[in-house]
Amino acid sequence: MRLSRYFLPLLKETPAEAQIVSHRLMLRAGMLRQEAAGIYAWLPLGHRVLQKVEQIVREEMDRAGAVELLMPTLQLADLWRESGRYDDYGAEMLRITDRHERELLYGPTNEEMITEIFRAYVRSYKALPKNLYHIQWKFRDEQRPRFGVMRGREFLMKDAYSFDVDEAAGKAAYNRMFVAYLRLFKRMGLSAIPMKAETGPIGGDLSHEFIVLAQTGESQVFLDRRMLDLPVPGEDVDYEGDLEPIVTDWTRLYAATEDVHDADRYGRETPEADQITARGIEVGQTFFFGDKYSKPMKAVVSGPDGVERPVQMGSYGVGVSRLLGAIIEASHDEAGIIWPDAVAPFGVGIVNLRPGDAATDRACEEAYVALKQGGKEPLLDDTDERPGGKFAAMDLIGLPWQLIIGPRGLAEGKVEVKRRASGERHTLPLVEALSMMGA
Ligand SMILES: Nc1ncnc2c1ncn2[C@@H]1O[C@H](COP(=O)(O)OP(=O)(O)OP(=O)(O)O)[C@@H](O)[C@H]1O
Ligand SMILES: [Mg+2]
Repeated sequence: MRLSRYFLPLLKETPAEAQIVSHRLMLRAGMLRQEAAGIYAWLPLGHRVLQKVEQIVREEMDRAGAVELLMPTLQLADLWRESGRYDDYGAEMLRITDRHERELLYGPTNEEMITEIFRAYVRSYKALPKNLYHIQWKFRDEQRPRFGVMRGREFLMKDAYSFDVDEAAGKAAYNRMFVAYLRLFKRMGLSAIPMKAETGPIGGDLSHEFIVLAQTGESQVFLDRRMLDLPVPGEDVDYEGDLEPIVTDWTRLYAATEDVHDADRYGRETPEADQITARGIEVGQTFFFGDKYSKPMKAVVSGPDGVERPVQMGSYGVGVSRLLGAIIEASHDEAGIIWPDAVAPFGVGIVNLRPGDAATDRACEEAYVALKQGGKEPLLDDTDERPGGKFAAMDLIGLPWQLIIGPRGLAEGKVEVKRRASGERHTLPLVEALSMMGA
């Protein structure tokens, strides 16, 4: 992408309404624009990152055996009356009436709809296990939308739903999602700790919240320091095999949110030197709730014995849009964002220090083509902005590599490479620079 043709409305001033660093940086870096309280337009740079994050979530869901579909944002109120949640959900639900006076709602989650889909087609245990997921916008009319994408009203969620014949199979399905979550957050450069959690309006009694530690987090959490050193399963993890040992490893040590915190147990199980009290951001939550929806909604399957029973279900959410905020909270400095390679909107920012200088333009062009062919997704700053402004902009938008090309260096056959995260700089010939960046 050439910056001269791109749409990157950077802000010089720090927006007064933004209270936390990720919100400030997303606004300043031209990623996001608020259209109404808790409702955002995703500008091109923000949209690119959102898509990267979404794709990692998708790949790890697919790897774990989940199957993608897409359900609508609007749902019939009557569907929610079947589970009894229409009245329970309260003011967070955005209720809508259409021209035929039919009551609809903008989905805050999809347990009812997926149960309705399942019961329409599946009758036998032979079709199980199944796990269906989608990545779709949700709406919750939050009392206090704040912190940008962290607590929006409209936000992007991945929600998966598992269906199994009995509780043991349901627990195995839960374990697959648990492991997939460990992996997907790690791939985004995050350390997300599973913590025992309350189940809230979703229901059930087995649940974990996946929490990224950050000072600006909304949850108070208590954990054993040794949780931070546990190994995350690699991509060769066998989802067909028994994952219970991994889940046990990750749930043995104490880690809980304040809602379920048990101070006595914490004191007994965690040596004082290993106790961490911290703030955290909830980036995902897993639930196993058995027949909470399948029973009232009559989603039944016949078992090997021919007897019909309500299907055993779980649900598994990831806050896809919230993750962008969490990643920035975890990875930034005074100058701006520092994107982990896996989610960076562009891999390399090429800074042309003197557009119009034939040799510089030529070298930039050569680098641009080579990086593009190498799959490095370069962003070429070919604008007339002064070098100082270009450097500041590159640091702000946080691309992993900067390639700085100007007439003075080229006279000696050299360009400069800067690694955004470490600030490390190298002056070297263009071909070597390209290979250093992996192109
Ligand atoms: N208002 C929101 N804005 C952005 N992301 C959200 C919001 N509410 C929930 N999420 C994300 O969706 C995931 C799954 O939804 P879940 O129903 O568990 O949310 P929740 O527990 O109500 O969230 P919270 O406790 O933060 O309100 C959450 O783990 C979170 O990452
Ligand atoms: Mg939750």
